[in-house]
Amino acid sequence: MAVKELLEDIFEVGASHYDRELFDELIPLPDGTSYNAYLIKGSKKTALLDTVDPKKTERLFQNLESAEVEEIDYLIAHHAEQDHSGSIPDVLEKYPEATVVTNSKCKDMLIDHLHLSEEDILVIENEEELSLGDKTLKFIDMPWVHWPETLVTYLKEENVLFSCDFFGSHLATSNLFVQDKKKVYLAAKRYYAEIMMPFRSSIKNHLEKIDEMEVDIIATSHGPIYDDPDFILDAYSEWVNDETKSEVVIPYVSMHGSTDKMVEYFVDYLIQKDMKVKPFNLTTTDLGQLAMSLVDASTVVLGTPTVLVGAHPKAIYAAHLVNALRPKTRYASIIGSYGWGGRMPDQIKNTLSNFDGEFLEPVISKGHPGDEDFDALEELADKIIEKHEQDDLVS
Ligand code: FEO
Repeated sequence: MAVKELLEDIFEVGASHYDRELFDELIPLPDGTSYNAYLIKGSKKTALLDTVDPKKTERLFQNLESAEVEEIDYLIAHHAEQDHSGSIPDVLEKYPEATVVTNSKCKDMLIDHLHLSEEDILVIENEEELSLGDKTLKFIDMPWVHWPETLVTYLKEENVLFSCDFFGSHLATSNLFVQDKKKVYLAAKRYYAEIMMPFRSSIKNHLEKIDEMEVDIIATSHGPIYDDPDFILDAYSEWVNDETKSEVVIPYVSMHGSTDKMVEYFVDYLIQKDMKVKPFNLTTTDLGQLAMSLVDASTVVLGTPTVLVGAHPKAIYAAHLVNALRPKTRYASIIGSYGWGGRMPDQIKNTLSNFDGEFLEPVISKGHPGDEDFDALEELADKIIEKHEQDDLVS
């Protein structure tokens, strides 16, 4: 993105990455992403808040030149992950007078990951303030949004919260502020599901802290900036609360059609009973969509055949993903098939070691499913419906 002024003497100087397809070589980026960095020119000092992914260092430098930056006094590092910290060594080379400002945990990580020199770093404490003259930065530790060292900055005079990954969206856009709320909502929900959901309980506490602050703008490190903070704060409140919706998510894979037939029957039966169902064929699905569906779902039913006495590797991968993302799902089960034996259900259950909800009896067919298997699928579906009704869930 070219340099854009948020408020007087406050600029976005980071970079859009429209054609990036994967994050961490894992997360699909259908809309690319951006690495937002912010320049604040105080009456006495100038601060740069975060940098950009090393692939976009030149863009950062072009933007700093466009903003007529001759000296940087402080380089605020909110987070040691390289999409924000990766250009710090180059910035320090070009602006050797700059002091990196961060907390002690982040300092250690910056030294580990980027081999920064200790003498280039000023360590600040939680809630410490730093004056730029007519502007005051207040630093607030917010661990686990996304790593344990992460902090945010509050610009006191303007009520701007520079939130780093928190509230972000992988969305490359020419809009500085949110314009298309529907699009940003989905991108932010996908981002929450993939990055933030495992840390739901920490995020709840941080939201309470932010609720006590006066915030007019939330400037994240990915995606457009929120000039209507309630839009994203309300969305996060919904995502992190303990409520789930009456939705059944079914990630599945089939080899010779048995599991496929069972999933189809199961899905149709649930739909006939007016249930909301989200099947995902694991051979073709966008894992971000699957992750997003887990934010609200009450039940996950994994469908898999048996391969070499265990679950299909794609089903294990999905189970591992569910386990790592720690959704608030209440019920889980397994449907699938086997040829001559195996321990597929136990393997899936063991992979879901973080799941603390209730496992419902799996339905496993020997070979091609027959009438008994379809009856068992109906029983499982009825049990799920009963559980959702007992819990008073709505879709
Ligand atoms: Fe955008 Fe955790 O880095």
